[in-house]
Amino acid sequence: MGLRWRLLLLFLLAAFVPFVALGLVVQKTLVEELEEDHRRLLESRVEAARRRLAEREAEDRRAVQALCDHDLVIDRLLLDLATDRFDPSREQSLVTLLPPLMRGRRFDTLHLLDARSGRDRGRVLGAGHYPESVGADAAALLDATVRARGEPFVRDVRIATEAGPRDRRTLLQGCVAERDGVAVGVVAGRHLDEGFGEALLGDVQPVAFAIAGPDETPRLPGSDPPVTVARFLDASGEPALRLLAAIDDAPLREDVGGLRQRSLYVAAGAFGVALLLAFVMTWTLSRPLRDLEEATRRVAGGDLESQIRVKARGEVGRTLQAFNAMTRELAATRQKLLRAERIAAWREVARRIAHEIKNPLQPIQMEIETMRKLHARGHPSFDEEFEQSTSLILEEVKRMNNMVSEFSRFARLPRPKPEPLDLRELAQHVAGLHDGGEVALELHLPAEPTVVRADREQLTQVLVNLVQNACDAASARHPGHGARVELALAPTADGAELRVADNGMGIAPDDRLRIFEPYFTTKAKGTGLGLAIVHRIVGDHGGSIDVEDGLDGGAAFVVLLPKGGPPEAIAASLSDSALPLTPTAR
Ligand SMILES: Nc1ncnc2c1ncn2[C@@H]1O[C@H](COP(=O)(O)OP(=O)(O)OP(=O)(O)O)[C@@H](O)[C@H]1O
Ligand SMILES: [Mg+2]
Repeated sequence: MGLRWRLLLLFLLAAFVPFVALGLVVQKTLVEELEEDHRRLLESRVEAARRRLAEREAEDRRAVQALCDHDLVIDRLLLDLATDRFDPSREQSLVTLLPPLMRGRRFDTLHLLDARSGRDRGRVLGAGHYPESVGADAAALLDATVRARGEPFVRDVRIATEAGPRDRRTLLQGCVAERDGVAVGVVAGRHLDEGFGEALLGDVQPVAFAIAGPDETPRLPGSDPPVTVARFLDASGEPALRLLAAIDDAPLREDVGGLRQRSLYVAAGAFGVALLLAFVMTWTLSRPLRDLEEATRRVAGGDLESQIRVKARGEVGRTLQAFNAMTRELAATRQKLLRAERIAAWREVARRIAHEIKNPLQPIQMEIETMRKLHARGHPSFDEEFEQSTSLILEEVKRMNNMVSEFSRFARLPRPKPEPLDLRELAQHVAGLHDGGEVALELHLPAEPTVVRADREQLTQVLVNLVQNACDAASARHPGHGARVELALAPTADGAELRVADNGMGIAPDDRLRIFEPYFTTKAKGTGLGLAIVHRIVGDHGGSIDVEDGLDGGAAFVVLLPKGGPPEAIAASLSDSALPLTPTAR
């Protein structure tokens, strides 16, 4: 993964992970708070219902007790019973008087029972909620009331409905009013029905109440088990009914769902922003680095003057400036080095030329001195000696002349004039020059033309020199028969490769370092300038030349040429009149 992607990922993680973690914590806290609110709401409703129930019970107790203690209707009834004047007409008046008495105290049921001992004990004297029951036997109700001793208890009470009489579960409280030896049981009640809890508190949404038997599980909203608000006992103290409460958690779930959705939207938005910021940051941070990388590659490729446009500030900007300063320094140093190299090369050439010229000068001087001596003495062999000496002198002068003209050929090597050049055709042309020679030249050429920008004449010179050397080496090792030279051309990614291989005696490792120097030769009639010229031409074209192992222990010269021809930097440093002996590149 590239630096840019790594940085992008890093920034994204750095921006997004804490955000998501924080978001999750906040979301969890909010959800917990919502749930806590919900729970507290249920608790407060349950608490309020319990309080209201206790108040109601106390009110009811007081109201029932007040009826037993002193009430006009009941006092009158007791008096009637005591004086034995209770008759059906009296019963009729109770039918009209009891319902308002009952409703005035907000009871659902109100029984007046004969509580005297005897046959009529338990007879219904009046019933505010169900006049039709007057005269019926309610001894069990009376017993239960007495047994409950004023505590509320649950019992089914028959009431009149439009569909006829029906039993309804009722919470009853009662007492016995006694005066003058007669007693009347007063039992008042409230129905324990659906809506009982709601009736206690009014609107209690989203809390719902239900009345259920001890083993019943009523249908209540919410997923948690219901809370028991109160237990109601029957007259014998056994559990009879429960008031249950539960909270509907659908609104909570809706709230939580909404919260999660909003969090998701916010997270998605934040991710988008983080991505954008990370992208911008990565771009601004990695851009100078990429520029630096590219420039470094250019420097490695030989473009020492490569400069970076510095837009960044801070450390990165300073790094780029330092890089620019370094390449300027490098370019300047290279210039100095080139100058020094040229001076050194010139000195070396001057030394070799002096040496080469001094060698023939000595025999010339000796021959002339000998001739002068013989002439002065008038020696008879002078003529013969003259002939011999002058031809020797002429030969040496010719050799010097030859050497000087070879040197000036090398020294005047002009700057290349590049043009599109098909190397395949050039190789065929050079091979043609060797047709009929004693060495077999094998050609390995690509099917397609291989075109580079190069100076035709100079590259011909390169190939001719290399092939000539290869032929010299191969035929020296295999005189007469078996000498082989291979000339191969292959296109490369950015140009072409020329390879001249032979099966000659190869080049000793020590000599490999020296063969490109001017005047290095191992041949009796060689100038030692061939490879120096080749090296310089290849260098002037921005290419390179290397020695490798060739065929059967022989040598191979590999020339790489760039497609685009001599690079600007090299072309600019060459001048037609300049005389660099060592190639300027590589
Ligand atoms: N293919 C080769 N195999 C073995 N030695 C080689 C080969 N090519 C060059 N050399 C060695 O490198 C030396 C220098 O070669 P260069 O072409 O510069 O000069 P030369 O061939 O000696 O002289 P000239 O090129 O003037 O004939 C040669 O004398 C030879 O020793
Ligand atoms: Mg040569």
